[in-house]
Amino acid sequence: MSTIDEVKARIDIVDLVSEAGVKLRHAGKNYTGFCPFHDNKHTPAFVVWPESGTWRCFGQCNEGGDIFKFVMKKEGIDFKEALQKLAARAGVEIKEYQRETPQQREVYDTLRKLLEDAVVFYRSHLFANREILAYLREKRGLTDATIETFGLGYAPPGYDNVLRHFIQRGVKEQELLDAGLLSEREDGKRFDRFRHRIMIPIRDENGKMAGFGARIVDPNDIPKFLNSPETPIFSKGRLLYGLDRARKPIRAADQAVIVEGYLDVIALHQAGYENVVSPMGTALTEEQLRLLKRFTRKIVLALDPDTAGQKAVLRGLEAARSAMDREGELRFDARGLLRNEARLQADLRVASMPDDLDPDEIVARDREEWKKLIENAKPIVEHVMVSLAEGKNLNDRRVVNEIANQVLPLISDLPTPADREFFTQRLARFLKVDERAFISAQAQGPRVRRPRQQTEKRQPVEKSTLAVAVSSSKLVEEYVIGVLFRKPELLYRLDRQLQEYGLLPLNVQDFDFTDNQMLFGLIRESVEQDKTEHHTFVAEAVPESLLGLSRDLLAQTEKLERVEEKLLEELLRSVIKMRRVTAGENLNQLRFLQEEAHQAGDLRAAPYTELVLRNTKLLRDLDQAYRKMSQKRLE
Ligand code: CTP
Ligand code: MN
Repeated sequence: MSTIDEVKARIDIVDLVSEAGVKLRHAGKNYTGFCPFHDNKHTPAFVVWPESGTWRCFGQCNEGGDIFKFVMKKEGIDFKEALQKLAARAGVEIKEYQRETPQQREVYDTLRKLLEDAVVFYRSHLFANREILAYLREKRGLTDATIETFGLGYAPPGYDNVLRHFIQRGVKEQELLDAGLLSEREDGKRFDRFRHRIMIPIRDENGKMAGFGARIVDPNDIPKFLNSPETPIFSKGRLLYGLDRARKPIRAADQAVIVEGYLDVIALHQAGYENVVSPMGTALTEEQLRLLKRFTRKIVLALDPDTAGQKAVLRGLEAARSAMDREGELRFDARGLLRNEARLQADLRVASMPDDLDPDEIVARDREEWKKLIENAKPIVEHVMVSLAEGKNLNDRRVVNEIANQVLPLISDLPTPADREFFTQRLARFLKVDERAFISAQAQGPRVRRPRQQTEKRQPVEKSTLAVAVSSSKLVEEYVIGVLFRKPELLYRLDRQLQEYGLLPLNVQDFDFTDNQMLFGLIRESVEQDKTEHHTFVAEAVPESLLGLSRDLLAQTEKLERVEEKLLEELLRSVIKMRRVTAGENLNQLRFLQEEAHQAGDLRAAPYTELVLRNTKLLRDLDQAYRKMSQKRLE
């Protein structure tokens, strides 16, 4: 999912289609041109919708799709190849979601089991060491219950404690190495990776062991934290510390809080704030945000003021990227976060910690203070604005200009005109300048090429509701696919009901987006065979490039309406809604095409007239079906 959506977000369909040699012209809020897929150089029947990133041929092809479908058709390649091609163009790295083969699964389960045993091993050494226990209890204020709950432990000094313990129990050296419990010298000699450190078990969101974080005991040791090496089951960019325990509270509170440190997570949970997780010394990745988004869309970043400060804001996205794997501070990259926020439709806020304190110190000093800090979290743009101005003289014009120059590009990255307007006003008020001054400032500033904005430049009179409408139709599509993905057998009943209302069965062309179209194809296939249980069939047939998407769909449909009749009704309603939106858009566009044809001297514009009639009738049928549905409900 992540890759596909990222590619979609970064490639402007108007650019793509234009580069393929299609001359596009404005027609309303969209573009029209001659269809590259069929031969007709008289009437432009090809329409591009820039906001949704989709196209449709109203001529002979009578087909449409998104950027992927366009490239697939144009170059005769399959989805995977199109994804590779477009990802390369967008500069997006394709993360392969490897399916765990049964053999791999066995290997991973062995490693996880080994790590569980290591938790027990380190734990016994902790409870045998009074000094370390005292540190955790007294200096860090942890109760024994917390120490137990989080499975804390202690790795004793010495190079072969783990090694000997496990070898004696028949574990192979190679397995210990694979689990990340040993390190290897250049000459091949292996020794305990963790020595004289407090051990913090790291589990995935399902509570399965993944690795360890290990904090120094001796302040002179380096590094301060040593983590497990990257292994197939431990990937820092993919895990969030504490999520196994936090997922339920996050859902309940409909909010997740991200802090920077392991011990902060532990202290906050102990204080009763259980919706807290942390990354592991790397910048927050899109994948981590996505993981959180399965539980809530409201995410608060609790950052210390330095991290979130000026330096980090100045650093561009590219810099933040290349720095991503360095160990250490949590990097705050406002632009990257804003992109993710928009793309994931998340609500990201920032809470700054006062007085240079870590969250664990804040809850220790005043439990209520934490709550207030989180309640006062600010939207990213506002946070940047305020932290840039901190300690600066806002009466100095140069200071004001400097701040404006840094914040305005962020504002122009915001997805909706309404947000852009809101924050422009906000910035103006904050800097006490006339908002109109920004318009020229923005026009002058050096511009990085950003496809999204180019689209907007071409169509300055855009209404704020558009983006919303588009994304909501995408959501409806995803809902329909999501439900059917989980319960393909509903498709039969859905089709039957559609037909009872005089409508066509669900078909691929009902979906705008190629990934959804492909999944629908599999769902259709699954119900047309009877060898394998339907859902299993689909799950097994999903190509690797769509594994991420399908995983998200499963998560999104975890809590479906139980009563099947109601679920079916929701589905039917959604399909009608999808079709109404499409028919409405088509009609709008057809009016333009008709007009163009008239102007070009084709007074009858026959093919379009026919399509207008068809779409009008469709709208009528859909409305009628909708009314009948509601009546039936009342009966
Ligand atoms: N971290 C890391 N590697 C480092 C330093 C830090 O992985 N060399 C990660 C750890 O996850 C750590 C977090 O970054 O928890 C924050 O680091 P820091 O603020 O230095 O530590 P605290 O968690 O605050 O630990 P303590 O309060 O014990 O000093
Ligand atoms: Mn700390």
